[in-house]
Amino acid sequence: MSDILLEIKEVSKHFGGVTALDKVGLTIRKGEIHCLVGENGCGKSTLIKIISGFYKPDGGTICFDGQEYSSLDIKQSIQLGIQVIYQDMSIFPNLTVAENIAMNYELYNRRKLVNWKNVETIAKQALAHIGIDIPLHESVGSLSIADKQLIAIARSILYNSRLIIMDEPTSALTRREVDKLFKVIRQLQKEGISILFVSHKLDEVFEIADQFTVFRNGRLIVSKEAKNITNEQFVFYMTGRNIEEEYFTADHADVSSSLFRVENLCLKNGFENISFEIHPGEILGITGLLGSGRTELAKTLFGMYTADSGRIFIEEKEVKIKSPMDALKLKVAYVPEDRLTEGLFLTQSIENNMIISNIDRLRKKKGTVDFQRGNEDSKYWVKSLGIKLHELKDGIQTLSGGNQQKVVLGKWLETSPKVLILNGPTVGVDIGAKYDIHNYLRKLAEEKTMAILLISDDINEILMNCNRILIIKSGRITGEYKNTDLDSSRLQVLITEGEGAEAV
Ligand SMILES: Nc1ncnc2c1ncn2[C@@H]1O[C@H](COP(=O)(O)OP(=O)(O)OP(=O)(O)O)[C@@H](O)[C@H]1O
Ligand SMILES: [Mg+2]
Repeated sequence: MSDILLEIKEVSKHFGGVTALDKVGLTIRKGEIHCLVGENGCGKSTLIKIISGFYKPDGGTICFDGQEYSSLDIKQSIQLGIQVIYQDMSIFPNLTVAENIAMNYELYNRRKLVNWKNVETIAKQALAHIGIDIPLHESVGSLSIADKQLIAIARSILYNSRLIIMDEPTSALTRREVDKLFKVIRQLQKEGISILFVSHKLDEVFEIADQFTVFRNGRLIVSKEAKNITNEQFVFYMTGRNIEEEYFTADHADVSSSLFRVENLCLKNGFENISFEIHPGEILGITGLLGSGRTELAKTLFGMYTADSGRIFIEEKEVKIKSPMDALKLKVAYVPEDRLTEGLFLTQSIENNMIISNIDRLRKKKGTVDFQRGNEDSKYWVKSLGIKLHELKDGIQTLSGGNQQKVVLGKWLETSPKVLILNGPTVGVDIGAKYDIHNYLRKLAEEKTMAILLISDDINEILMNCNRILIIKSGRITGEYKNTDLDSSRLQVLITEGEGAEAV
């Protein structure tokens, strides 16, 4: 019996004038953890959608367990034991945790009437299987994106799966949850299940993968065993260039003046007595675990929550930020962590998404909008951030995940804010583009007119780009460090120590 589970041969896919996949191949063995990597828009999600039967390929074959197909449909793919956790997760926000996990399963087993008791039992077992504790009756819409991802994972293991595909399952998870997930993946592997895993976090790929395959621009570049490759080679395969980031040091920071200052800011059940200052020329970093209060803080600074007490100053002038409208008027911009629900208008074109935050500036006399200028501005950001698209008037949904994230970033940068708050700005962005975005932020900082606050749980992103780093824990700032005094393992310890890190 062959040990090959899935073999893709010469598969192509075009969308109008865009070639998403050009005769690619991929071979996955039974019980193998296989990582598919490559830059944003290189065709990873498209291939996954072909394997799951969501798209029909324009050519090529799919061989599953010795049987050859020219295409699959969704039902067939599920029956073969293929389960996919999509990048946008397909979670139903109005349903509870239990319903989200077990509903499809009840339908899959052809039950006409849903047995609610069953739903609960199934959901409980699935969560226990992956060692996660989330209240079953909670509505999923109110959960963090990390919990949503864990629910999608719990749901996928319910079926008689032979291949579980995870499209960036760790994008919103912190290290502790990633450890949990990896434990689950290794357990699934022991049960003989194959895993296809897409990630832009290279350290994770190295940690978990037996085999990896690199795509670039819709083409297969290389497929190799993970143990036979160095980090540098890997980055080169993906990007076609050598990338080495250096610490940002803010040599010319002007500490005698202040661009943004927060004094004793408090939000009930969010955070307490938060104080910090950003000087011209600096990038300030805030990092902490999920639930540490970092996102509540970001949202408060943007007026999505109203602080209970404390003061905020922009260029030494005290301001009140009680709504996002106040924030916009004061030129405070916020790049949110969850682009799908907070960052984009999903039914609109790429261009409309880019100009929406700037509509006031684009307004001409008589209330008409200068779309010509909007178009030029949009083109500028497409070029600067390397957004891969066909046409600006295409729907935002036609962009790959990472390219959507770049649109969110571009639209806020275009507002030329005084205070730029970035929450996980490069989640899902490929390593090359990430490097370019980091360089862009450094250049902005050096211009000394914009306060940049970078909130992230990407340890390297924080270390490399924030010359000062604050650690937040249970809603309080527990330490301030210079980036050059830390390395990644030390920073990791600082974030988790005293948090009773669970054994994983
Ligand atoms: N429905 C669609 N209509 C038009 N173009 C599409 C559609 N889906 C994908 N594309 C295009 O196909 C290419 C491949 O996209 P895909 O989503 O597979 O990239 P990806 O490798 O998953 O990227 P990312 O890392 O950003 O998620 C991109 O250029 C994208 O814009
Ligand atoms: Mg994708």
